[in-house]
Amino acid sequence: MHALIAYHSDYEHTEHVAEAIAAGAKAILLEHDISGSVIVRQAEHVSLEDMRFADVLIFGSPVHMGSMAWQMKKLVDLGAKFWMEGALEGKIGGVFATYGGFGGAGGGVEQALIGLHANFLEQGMLVCGFPRSLTGFSEAGIHWGLAVRTGNEEGMPEGISDASLIAARAYGAYVLETALRVQQ
Ligand SMILES: Cc1cc2nc3c(=O)[nH]c(=O)nc-3n(C[C@H](O)[C@H](O)[C@H](O)COP(=O)(O)O)c2cc1C
Repeated sequence: MHALIAYHSDYEHTEHVAEAIAAGAKAILLEHDISGSVIVRQAEHVSLEDMRFADVLIFGSPVHMGSMAWQMKKLVDLGAKFWMEGALEGKIGGVFATYGGFGGAGGGVEQALIGLHANFLEQGMLVCGFPRSLTGFSEAGIHWGLAVRTGNEEGMPEGISDASLIAARAYGAYVLETALRVQQ
């Protein structure tokens, strides 16, 4: 079971969340004694082969001007090659985003998550949201995936709460568990 966590991050918030997701994913491989890998990689360093190789793709982005950062969109568009061959069909997808919280209501986080899901669905993948029963739903869960607020009331950087990192770990575990269930 191979998982690829691809993200963009300018100021390391999204990177830290990606690492927490990876920790949760790795814990599931260990718990079930399953061989495999969990690779965490900046979008600009992700190759088509990385995507083809992975059974699980988890994509994450900071919210930039109300939607995903262009670096993630570039990766999404790079993957368009796979649509012709159906190379990503049946793989499991998960999505996450960090956001400053402009306006207090997310400032585009849903748009970013749904945009990433749309790509996975177009590729014929099976996508994971963030179930209400999962640890951390009230802190950083939203139906579409993991949404971590990093800004204060003015939208200025404040950092990532411990509860959000716990939610990120839970999300990584959940996506891997889902992949294992589908593979059986
Ligand atoms: C160019 C730019 C545009 C942004 N636009 C938004 C936005 O529309 N809504 C929002 O809530 N946060 C916005 N933010 C805040 C970031 O989403 C937030 O700080 C994020 O956690 C940064 O992630 P990073 O540290 O991984 O780069 C923006 C930040 C930058 C740099």
